[in-house]
Amino acid sequence: MRYPHDIPSSEITPKSLYLSRRELIAGTAAMLAGTTALTGGSAHAAPLAAAKSPLSTDEPQTRRADAVSYNNFYEFGTDKADPEKNAGSLKTSPWNVKIDGLVEKPGTYAYDDIVKPSGLEERIYRLRCVEAWSMVIPWIGFPLADLLKRVEPKSNAKFVAFETLVRPEEMPGQRGLLQALPWPYVEGLRLDEAMHPLTILAVGMYGETLPNQCGAPIRLVVPWKYGYKSIKSIVRISLVEKQPPTSWSLQNPSEYGFFSNVNPAVDHPRWSQASERRIGEGTGLFQKRRPTLMFNGYAEQVASLYTGMDLRVNH
Ligand code: MTE
Repeated sequence: MRYPHDIPSSEITPKSLYLSRRELIAGTAAMLAGTTALTGGSAHAAPLAAAKSPLSTDEPQTRRADAVSYNNFYEFGTDKADPEKNAGSLKTSPWNVKIDGLVEKPGTYAYDDIVKPSGLEERIYRLRCVEAWSMVIPWIGFPLADLLKRVEPKSNAKFVAFETLVRPEEMPGQRGLLQALPWPYVEGLRLDEAMHPLTILAVGMYGETLPNQCGAPIRLVVPWKYGYKSIKSIVRISLVEKQPPTSWSLQNPSEYGFFSNVNPAVDHPRWSQASERRIGEGTGLFQKRRPTLMFNGYAEQVASLYTGMDLRVNH
Protein backbone atom coordinates (compact mmCIF):
# COMPACT_ATOMS: atom_id res chain seq x y z
CA MET A 1 0.00 0.00 0.00
CA ARG A 2 1.21 3.50 -0.80
CA TYR A 3 0.30 6.55 1.19
CA PRO A 4 -0.81 9.68 -0.67
CA HIS A 5 2.50 11.47 -0.10
CA ASP A 6 4.34 8.57 -1.83
CA ILE A 7 2.45 9.02 -5.09
CA PRO A 8 4.44 11.06 -7.62
CA SER A 9 2.56 14.11 -8.82
CA SER A 10 2.72 12.75 -12.42
CA GLU A 11 0.42 9.90 -11.33
CA ILE A 12 -2.17 12.13 -9.74
CA THR A 13 -5.13 12.71 -12.04
CA PRO A 14 -5.41 16.39 -12.86
CA LYS A 15 -8.31 17.91 -10.96
CA SER A 16 -9.99 18.93 -14.20
CA LEU A 17 -10.36 15.27 -15.22
CA TYR A 18 -12.01 13.97 -12.11
CA LEU A 19 -14.29 16.87 -11.39
CA SER A 20 -17.77 16.26 -12.71
CA ARG A 21 -19.40 18.85 -14.92
CA ARG A 22 -21.33 20.09 -11.90
CA GLU A 23 -18.11 20.75 -10.05
CA LEU A 24 -16.50 22.27 -13.13
CA ILE A 25 -19.33 24.75 -13.54
CA ALA A 26 -19.17 25.71 -9.91
CA GLY A 27 -15.38 25.76 -10.08
CA THR A 28 -15.34 28.06 -13.10
CA ALA A 29 -17.77 30.42 -11.40
CA ALA A 30 -15.59 30.37 -8.31
CA MET A 31 -12.44 31.09 -10.31
CA LEU A 32 -14.16 34.03 -11.93
CA ALA A 33 -15.21 35.22 -8.50
CA GLY A 34 -11.66 34.76 -7.25
CA THR A 35 -12.64 32.16 -4.64
CA THR A 36 -11.89 28.49 -4.11
CA ALA A 37 -14.49 25.95 -5.22
CA LEU A 38 -14.98 22.87 -3.11
CA THR A 39 -17.79 20.35 -3.23
CA GLY A 40 -19.23 17.82 -0.85
CA GLY A 41 -19.98 18.52 2.79
CA SER A 42 -21.82 21.36 4.38
CA ALA A 43 -18.79 23.61 4.54
CA HIS A 44 -18.20 23.09 0.84
CA ALA A 45 -21.04 24.87 -0.93
CA ALA A 46 -19.80 26.24 -4.27
CA PRO A 47 -20.97 29.40 -6.06
CA LEU A 48 -23.95 28.92 -8.36
CA ALA A 49 -25.43 31.81 -10.28
CA ALA A 50 -29.02 32.21 -11.49
CA ALA A 51 -31.30 35.09 -12.46
CA LYS A 52 -34.08 35.99 -10.05
CA SER A 53 -37.54 34.69 -10.97
CA PRO A 54 -40.52 37.09 -10.87
CA LEU A 55 -42.24 34.40 -8.75
CA SER A 56 -40.03 35.55 -5.84
CA THR A 57 -41.28 37.28 -2.71
CA ASP A 58 -39.68 40.65 -1.91
CA GLU A 59 -39.82 40.05 1.86
CA PRO A 60 -36.47 40.28 3.69
CA GLN A 61 -34.46 37.06 3.42
CA THR A 62 -33.57 34.94 6.42
CA ARG A 63 -29.84 35.18 7.22
CA ARG A 64 -27.94 32.35 5.54
CA ALA A 65 -26.31 31.52 8.88
CA ASP A 66 -29.77 30.76 10.35
CA ALA A 67 -31.01 28.82 7.31
CA VAL A 68 -28.04 26.43 7.36
CA SER A 69 -27.89 25.85 11.14
CA TYR A 70 -31.58 25.37 12.11
CA ASN A 71 -32.75 22.39 10.09
CA ASN A 72 -34.99 19.35 10.03
CA PHE A 73 -33.24 16.41 8.37
CA TYR A 74 -33.96 13.45 10.62
CA GLU A 75 -31.53 11.17 8.79
CA PHE A 76 -28.87 13.23 10.59
CA GLY A 77 -30.60 13.52 13.99
CA THR A 78 -33.70 15.13 15.45
CA ASP A 79 -32.15 18.24 17.01
CA LYS A 80 -32.23 21.40 14.87
CA ALA A 81 -28.43 21.65 15.14
CA ASP A 82 -27.77 17.98 14.23
CA PRO A 83 -27.97 18.26 10.41
CA GLU A 84 -25.27 20.93 10.21
CA LYS A 85 -23.10 18.95 12.61
CA ASN A 86 -23.56 15.54 10.98
CA ALA A 87 -24.41 15.99 7.30
CA GLY A 88 -20.82 16.51 6.15
CA SER A 89 -20.53 12.71 5.91
CA LEU A 90 -23.10 12.50 3.08
CA LYS A 91 -21.49 11.79 -0.30
CA THR A 92 -23.39 13.84 -2.86
CA SER A 93 -21.28 13.10 -5.92
CA PRO A 94 -21.80 11.03 -8.00
CA TRP A 95 -25.59 11.33 -7.63
CA ASN A 96 -28.29 9.51 -9.58
CA VAL A 97 -32.06 9.82 -9.50
CA LYS A 98 -34.17 6.86 -10.53
CA ILE A 99 -37.33 7.93 -12.36
CA ASP A 100 -39.80 5.10 -12.75
CA GLY A 101 -43.43 4.04 -12.74
CA LEU A 102 -45.94 5.47 -15.20
CA VAL A 103 -43.58 7.33 -17.55
CA GLU A 104 -42.60 6.77 -21.18
CA LYS A 105 -38.91 7.35 -20.39
CA PRO A 106 -38.00 5.61 -17.14
CA GLY A 107 -34.35 5.36 -16.17
CA THR A 108 -31.60 6.13 -13.75
CA TYR A 109 -30.52 9.65 -14.56
CA ALA A 110 -27.24 11.24 -13.48
CA TYR A 111 -27.38 14.62 -11.73
CA ASP A 112 -25.95 16.32 -14.82
CA ASP A 113 -28.69 14.82 -17.01
CA ILE A 114 -31.36 16.23 -14.74
CA VAL A 115 -29.96 19.65 -13.89
CA LYS A 116 -29.40 22.01 -16.81
CA PRO A 117 -27.41 25.04 -15.61
CA SER A 118 -29.13 27.22 -18.24
CA GLY A 119 -32.53 26.33 -16.76
CA LEU A 120 -31.73 27.46 -13.22
CA GLU A 121 -33.37 30.45 -11.61
CA GLU A 122 -33.47 32.03 -8.18
CA ARG A 123 -36.82 31.70 -6.38
CA ILE A 124 -37.16 33.57 -3.11
CA TYR A 125 -39.88 31.68 -1.22
CA ARG A 126 -41.41 31.66 2.23
CA LEU A 127 -40.95 28.25 3.91
CA ARG A 128 -43.49 27.55 6.69
CA CYS A 129 -42.68 24.61 8.95
CA VAL A 130 -45.50 22.68 10.63
CA GLU A 131 -43.76 23.56 13.93
CA ALA A 132 -44.99 27.17 13.42
CA TRP A 133 -41.74 28.84 12.39
CA SER A 134 -40.89 30.24 8.99
CA MET A 135 -37.99 31.48 6.89
CA VAL A 136 -37.55 33.32 3.58
CA ILE A 137 -35.02 31.49 1.44
CA PRO A 138 -33.46 32.35 -1.94
CA TRP A 139 -33.51 28.90 -3.56
CA ILE A 140 -31.85 28.14 -6.88
CA GLY A 141 -33.66 25.54 -8.92
CA PHE A 142 -36.01 24.77 -11.77
CA PRO A 143 -39.66 23.77 -12.12
CA LEU A 144 -40.30 20.10 -11.35
CA ALA A 145 -42.70 20.24 -14.32
CA ASP A 146 -39.71 20.67 -16.69
CA LEU A 147 -38.26 17.34 -15.55
CA LEU A 148 -41.62 15.52 -15.51
CA LYS A 149 -42.41 16.65 -19.05
CA ARG A 150 -39.05 15.30 -20.23
CA VAL A 151 -39.85 11.79 -18.92
CA GLU A 152 -43.41 11.93 -20.33
CA PRO A 153 -45.98 10.86 -17.72
CA LYS A 154 -48.52 8.30 -19.00
CA SER A 155 -52.21 9.22 -18.98
CA ASN A 156 -52.95 7.06 -15.92
CA ALA A 157 -50.26 8.76 -13.77
CA LYS A 158 -52.11 10.67 -11.02
CA PHE A 159 -49.49 11.19 -8.28
CA VAL A 160 -45.73 11.69 -7.93
CA ALA A 161 -43.86 9.83 -5.17
CA PHE A 162 -40.42 10.91 -3.92
CA GLU A 163 -37.76 9.08 -1.92
CA THR A 164 -34.63 10.14 -0.02
CA LEU A 165 -31.65 7.80 0.14
CA VAL A 166 -31.05 5.13 2.77
CA ARG A 167 -27.36 5.12 3.63
CA PRO A 168 -26.92 4.38 7.33
CA GLU A 169 -23.14 4.42 7.03
CA GLU A 170 -23.37 8.14 6.15
CA MET A 171 -26.58 9.01 8.03
CA PRO A 172 -26.34 8.60 11.80
CA GLY A 173 -30.12 9.01 12.21
CA GLN A 174 -30.59 5.76 10.26
CA ARG A 175 -28.41 3.79 12.66
CA GLY A 176 -29.15 2.35 16.09
CA LEU A 177 -32.21 0.99 17.82
CA LEU A 178 -34.31 4.11 18.19
CA GLN A 179 -35.27 5.44 14.78
CA ALA A 180 -37.22 8.71 14.54
CA LEU A 181 -38.99 7.71 11.30
CA PRO A 182 -39.28 4.67 9.04
CA TRP A 183 -36.76 4.96 6.16
CA PRO A 184 -36.56 5.94 3.42
CA TYR A 185 -38.15 9.36 3.97
CA VAL A 186 -40.98 9.42 1.41
CA GLU A 187 -43.26 12.17 0.17
CA GLY A 188 -45.86 12.67 -2.51
CA LEU A 189 -47.82 15.20 -4.53
CA ARG A 190 -50.86 15.00 -6.74
CA LEU A 191 -49.70 15.30 -10.37
CA ASP A 192 -51.29 18.75 -10.81
CA GLU A 193 -49.49 20.00 -7.66
CA ALA A 194 -46.23 18.57 -8.97
CA MET A 195 -46.74 20.27 -12.34
CA HIS A 196 -47.64 23.66 -10.78
CA PRO A 197 -45.15 26.38 -11.77
CA LEU A 198 -44.38 27.22 -8.10
CA THR A 199 -43.13 23.65 -7.40
CA ILE A 200 -39.38 23.44 -7.89
CA LEU A 201 -36.46 21.10 -7.52
CA ALA A 202 -33.79 23.12 -5.74
CA VAL A 203 -30.06 22.54 -6.17
CA GLY A 204 -28.80 25.69 -4.48
CA MET A 205 -29.55 28.55 -2.10
CA TYR A 206 -27.99 31.95 -1.32
CA GLY A 207 -26.03 31.87 -4.60
CA GLU A 208 -24.34 28.55 -3.82
CA THR A 209 -24.96 24.83 -4.24
CA LEU A 210 -27.07 23.37 -1.43
CA PRO A 211 -25.20 22.59 1.76
CA ASN A 212 -25.74 18.94 2.73
CA GLN A 213 -27.94 19.77 5.72
CA CYS A 214 -30.36 21.57 3.39
CA GLY A 215 -30.89 18.58 1.10
CA ALA A 216 -27.91 18.40 -1.26
CA PRO A 217 -27.61 17.83 -4.07
CA ILE A 218 -31.30 18.06 -5.07
CA ARG A 219 -34.49 18.59 -3.07
CA LEU A 220 -38.12 19.49 -3.54
CA VAL A 221 -39.56 22.89 -2.54
CA VAL A 222 -43.36 23.33 -2.47
CA PRO A 223 -43.88 26.77 -0.91
CA TRP A 224 -47.63 26.58 -0.14
CA LYS A 225 -47.30 23.37 1.90
CA TYR A 226 -45.76 22.69 5.31
CA GLY A 227 -42.00 22.26 5.09
CA TYR A 228 -42.04 18.50 5.59
CA LYS A 229 -43.42 18.04 2.06
CA SER A 230 -40.15 19.52 0.74
CA ILE A 231 -38.21 16.25 0.75
CA LYS A 232 -34.41 16.46 0.73
CA SER A 233 -31.62 14.59 -1.09
CA ILE A 234 -33.94 12.85 -3.56
CA VAL A 235 -32.87 9.56 -5.19
CA ARG A 236 -36.15 8.36 -6.66
CA ILE A 237 -39.19 9.93 -8.34
CA SER A 238 -42.05 7.59 -9.28
CA LEU A 239 -45.20 8.40 -11.23
CA VAL A 240 -48.04 6.35 -9.79
CA GLU A 241 -51.80 5.91 -10.05
CA LYS A 242 -52.68 5.76 -6.32
CA GLN A 243 -51.93 8.28 -3.58
CA PRO A 244 -48.48 7.28 -2.25
CA PRO A 245 -47.56 6.96 1.45
CA THR A 246 -45.77 9.90 3.10
CA SER A 247 -43.36 9.70 6.05
CA TRP A 248 -45.18 11.94 8.51
CA SER A 249 -48.62 10.45 7.87
CA LEU A 250 -47.13 6.95 8.22
CA GLN A 251 -45.63 8.04 11.53
CA ASN A 252 -48.77 9.73 12.84
CA PRO A 253 -51.82 9.60 10.54
CA SER A 254 -54.09 11.54 12.91
CA GLU A 255 -51.73 14.54 12.95
CA TYR A 256 -50.41 14.69 9.38
CA GLY A 257 -52.48 14.42 6.21
CA PHE A 258 -51.41 13.93 2.61
CA PHE A 259 -52.06 17.46 1.36
CA SER A 260 -50.44 19.42 4.22
CA ASN A 261 -51.37 22.79 2.75
CA VAL A 262 -50.47 25.66 5.06
CA ASN A 263 -53.82 26.56 6.64
CA PRO A 264 -54.14 28.92 9.63
CA ALA A 265 -57.73 27.72 10.18
CA VAL A 266 -56.79 24.07 10.76
CA ASP A 267 -54.77 23.64 13.94
CA HIS A 268 -52.34 20.83 14.53
CA PRO A 269 -53.95 18.61 17.22
CA ARG A 270 -51.27 19.78 19.67
CA TRP A 271 -50.75 23.45 18.73
CA SER A 272 -52.21 26.38 16.80
CA GLN A 273 -51.29 27.05 13.19
CA ALA A 274 -52.76 30.57 13.25
CA SER A 275 -49.42 32.35 13.65
CA GLU A 276 -45.72 31.73 13.22
CA ARG A 277 -42.34 33.09 14.29
CA ARG A 278 -39.95 34.14 11.56
CA ILE A 279 -36.50 32.74 12.32
CA GLY A 280 -34.08 35.58 13.08
CA GLU A 281 -36.77 38.10 14.04
CA GLY A 282 -35.99 38.75 17.72
CA THR A 283 -35.75 36.14 20.46
CA GLY A 284 -37.31 35.44 23.85
CA LEU A 285 -39.54 38.28 25.03
CA PHE A 286 -38.81 40.17 21.85
CA GLN A 287 -39.86 37.32 19.57
CA LYS A 288 -42.47 38.66 17.17
CA ARG A 289 -45.26 36.48 15.82
CA ARG A 290 -46.90 37.07 12.49
CA PRO A 291 -50.24 35.72 11.27
CA THR A 292 -49.93 32.63 9.09
CA LEU A 293 -51.42 33.14 5.64
CA MET A 294 -53.67 30.66 3.82
CA PHE A 295 -51.50 28.54 1.50
CA ASN A 296 -48.52 30.38 3.06
CA GLY A 297 -49.47 33.50 1.08
CA TYR A 298 -49.64 31.69 -2.28
CA ALA A 299 -53.47 31.38 -2.37
CA GLU A 300 -53.86 33.46 -5.52
CA GLN A 301 -51.67 31.02 -7.45
CA VAL A 302 -52.77 27.67 -5.95
CA ALA A 303 -56.27 27.87 -4.40
CA SER A 304 -57.88 26.71 -7.66
CA LEU A 305 -56.09 23.34 -7.33
CA TYR A 306 -58.43 22.56 -4.42
CA THR A 307 -61.77 23.87 -5.67
CA GLY A 308 -64.62 21.87 -4.15
CA MET A 309 -62.41 20.09 -1.60
CA ASP A 310 -63.04 20.33 2.15
CA LEU A 311 -59.60 21.41 3.37
CA ARG A 312 -60.41 20.41 6.96
CA VAL A 313 -60.96 16.82 5.91
CA ASN A 314 -58.20 16.89 3.26
CA HIS A 315 -55.62 18.57 5.49
N1 MTE B 1 -36.40 15.49 3.99
C1 MTE B 1 -35.82 14.39 4.53
N2 MTE B 1 -35.30 13.49 3.71
N3 MTE B 1 -35.74 14.19 5.86
C2 MTE B 1 -36.30 15.08 6.75
O1 MTE B 1 -36.24 14.85 7.98
N4 MTE B 1 -37.54 17.18 7.04
C3 MTE B 1 -38.59 18.01 6.43
C4 MTE B 1 -38.18 18.57 5.07
N5 MTE B 1 -37.51 17.55 4.28
C5 MTE B 1 -36.94 16.25 6.23
C6 MTE B 1 -36.95 16.43 4.82
C7 MTE B 1 -39.03 19.09 7.30
S1 MTE B 1 -39.91 18.63 8.68
C8 MTE B 1 -38.80 20.41 7.00
S2 MTE B 1 -39.50 21.66 7.93
C9 MTE B 1 -37.91 20.81 5.89
O2 MTE B 1 -37.30 19.68 5.26
C10 MTE B 1 -36.82 21.68 6.46
O3 MTE B 1 -36.00 22.20 5.44
P1 MTE B 1 -34.75 23.12 5.88
O4 MTE B 1 -34.00 22.39 6.93
O5 MTE B 1 -33.96 23.34 4.63
O6 MTE B 1 -35.35 24.39 6.41
